[in-house]
Amino acid sequence: MVDDITALTARHTYGTWRAQRGWSPLHVTRAEGCSFWDATGKRYLDLSSQLVCTNLGHQNPAVIEAIRQQAAKLAFIGPAHTCEVRARAVEKLLEVMPPGLDKFFFTTSGTDANEAALKIARLYTGRHKVIARYSSYHGSTSGSVAATGDLRRWMVEPASTGPGVVFGPEVNCYRCPLGRTRESCGVACADYLAYMMDHEQNVAAVIIEPIVGSNGVLIPPADYLPRLAEHCRKRGVLLIADEVMSGWGRTGKWFSVEHWGVVPDILTTAKGITNAAAPLGVVATSRAIADHFDDHFFAHGHTYEAHPLTLAPAIAAIDEYRRLDLLNRARTMGEVLGARLRALADKHPSIGDVRGMGLFWALDLVRNRGTREPFNVPRDKLERRPLVADAVSAECMKRGVSVMSWVSHLLVAPPLIITEAELDEGVAALDAALEVADRQVAAD
Ligand SMILES: Cc1ncc(COP(=O)(O)O)c(C=O)c1O
Repeated sequence: MVDDITALTARHTYGTWRAQRGWSPLHVTRAEGCSFWDATGKRYLDLSSQLVCTNLGHQNPAVIEAIRQQAAKLAFIGPAHTCEVRARAVEKLLEVMPPGLDKFFFTTSGTDANEAALKIARLYTGRHKVIARYSSYHGSTSGSVAATGDLRRWMVEPASTGPGVVFGPEVNCYRCPLGRTRESCGVACADYLAYMMDHEQNVAAVIIEPIVGSNGVLIPPADYLPRLAEHCRKRGVLLIADEVMSGWGRTGKWFSVEHWGVVPDILTTAKGITNAAAPLGVVATSRAIADHFDDHFFAHGHTYEAHPLTLAPAIAAIDEYRRLDLLNRARTMGEVLGARLRALADKHPSIGDVRGMGLFWALDLVRNRGTREPFNVPRDKLERRPLVADAVSAECMKRGVSVMSWVSHLLVAPPLIITEAELDEGVAALDAALEVADRQVAAD
């Protein structure tokens, strides 16, 4: 059913990352916990936390109340001033950030957190070049999209990307870009980034998603991140960890770098920091970087930097992660989810790989398990061919389950409050929907 709301939205506002024709956005009227409802009253289980951001579940009451109270108290004051909520948010962040990252710049998205991080790295080092990896997404503005390895950069370059980024291999043990196997690779993909640092001039920083998110939940082997951090440290190159998607309990820790005991020079985050109820991003920098700007110009800012309405829900959200014990819950429910997804793989030939950590999982869909050939490649998406992963996701929606698809995988990343019964409901829908993909395996 296309109602007025949908029609007006599609005619007069832009649908993101797509051609506009055919866009018919679902009119959502209500959301609560792990579910949301459309205008016909149909309920959907949210198996991807929207864009992996409503980690506490929809409409968390404490977060909503914090916004309400802050609005009544002080809805806005310019960033050159301060107010109580800014200091309290800092105190909370200091409790959860990796040790040593103790000076913050607040933004209004993950994109502009990365934009700021890249600028800070360049100002601090006086160098320009940035090394990023192909399987990555860091944002949509010129600097952040220039550092993005996936097709979202192809679409806009060179007009909307700045110069100065070189791309190296990602860590992907299912489809190794260097053609190695895990048993004997010696994390050559980390060493190759060191090779790049040594063969490029002027390298300011390496930017990575410690666990690649939208490009398929790529978990590095245990020695990858410590080794990369050491390569960077030895060369005086900053390590920027983009934890926009992988932070906030998603993997069973506040931030995924904690799994490997690595503290980057700069950590960026957004999304789950306010449970997505207000647009907040953060750039957390080391003391060395902070000290540098004592006597150097910090050439960055926004009207909405440290916006009180975004900081109040961050405080409430951090308290809620703790009160609901969600880091532990992500670990335990993650094991349940992982087991259920592996069981799906036993049944569905279209599942090539199941990988994840905490409540952050991907199902890699393949045409051929033996060759690991995916159903679709990024160019198919760019050229607007129908994608098998999208068809599976659409079939899930019909069955009342929302799951994010990208090129040839599904992202299963429910709110951290999800119950076992809800997980079963979501997995049952996946089970039925995957037949759409299985048929394509059989047809070839
Ligand atoms: C790893 C990562 N970095 C940056 C971004 C951009 O964040 P935003 O959409 O808030 O601008 C995203 C968004 O999905 C992301 O997953």
